[in-house]
Amino acid sequence: MQLAAKTDSTQPDEFVSVNQIHKDFGTGQSKRNVLSNISFSIKRGSFVSLLGVSGCGKSTLLQIIAGLLKPDGGQVALDRMPVNAPPFRMLYLFQQYTKSIFPWRSVTGNIAFGMESRKKWSRHEIAERCSELIKLVGLDGFGDYYPRQLSGGMQQRVAIARALACEPDVLLMDEPFSAVDAMTRSSLQDLVLKLWSSLGLTIVFVTHDIAEAIYLSDRVIVLHRSPSGVALDMYIDLPYPRNQLVTLDLPDFLKYRHRLYKEIYSEESTK
Ligand SMILES: Nc1ncnc2c1ncn2[C@@H]1O[C@H](COP(=O)(O)OP(=O)(O)OP(=O)(O)O)[C@@H](O)[C@H]1O
Ligand SMILES: [Mg+2]
Repeated sequence: MQLAAKTDSTQPDEFVSVNQIHKDFGTGQSKRNVLSNISFSIKRGSFVSLLGVSGCGKSTLLQIIAGLLKPDGGQVALDRMPVNAPPFRMLYLFQQYTKSIFPWRSVTGNIAFGMESRKKWSRHEIAERCSELIKLVGLDGFGDYYPRQLSGGMQQRVAIARALACEPDVLLMDEPFSAVDAMTRSSLQDLVLKLWSSLGLTIVFVTHDIAEAIYLSDRVIVLHRSPSGVALDMYIDLPYPRNQLVTLDLPDFLKYRHRLYKEIYSEESTK
């Protein structure tokens, strides 16, 4: 088990760099500091989970990384370019992202949407890419179905395929599996791992589920309760490909789980 320094901003490859982020909400007397001096950098191709209790600022931080929310201090950079608006190369999937697919468009129509609005691909290329993506996310045969005809897990697969259609380098996912049952959740976790490794994506994944963070990630960053800073930055040295039966039973998996529980529990007890 490899534990990094508490704030590790010395990664040689700074693909996504989060530099001294500070965020307040409200003004005057009701002003509240939510994020305080958060710094870390993420290597290209890594799978990093941001873990922390409810309300600690995970979604706020992810929205700042995505360029959807302005910080009050500090800066985010993607491949050394400052992020001041959502970059094309980085895609943000909302916490309840089944709501972000269009009910009036078929599966194919939903996946095609981002490509149609970018005007980068011909109709033929869009159709080809849609059918590839439908296969890739396991929805073969459902291209003509509408969201109402699909289960929640299938709708999430549509949302993932739609995000991937625009060929992002970075996927930012905010608790994407919090609303599905345990079996669907496991299969979506494995789908995301498959896509991550086959497409060479960089993923920043927000969760408050410790086991999910360890299972998916090669690095877990724990945030303090608000005002949030980096409480722990831990590399997960478990072999890929991961397997729901094998990985969850590895002695090192349990060690990581204990370490993370301790970190979060010690914060809970100081409430
Ligand atoms: N637009 C806003 N205006 C005012 N306060 C906000 C706003 N957005 C978030 N907050 C506050 O910032 C804090 C962090 O919220 P955030 O949604 O980032 O937490 P979170 O860690 O994602 O929580 P959860 O796990 O429940 O999704 C909370 O106290 C929240 O009330
Ligand atoms: Mg949140």
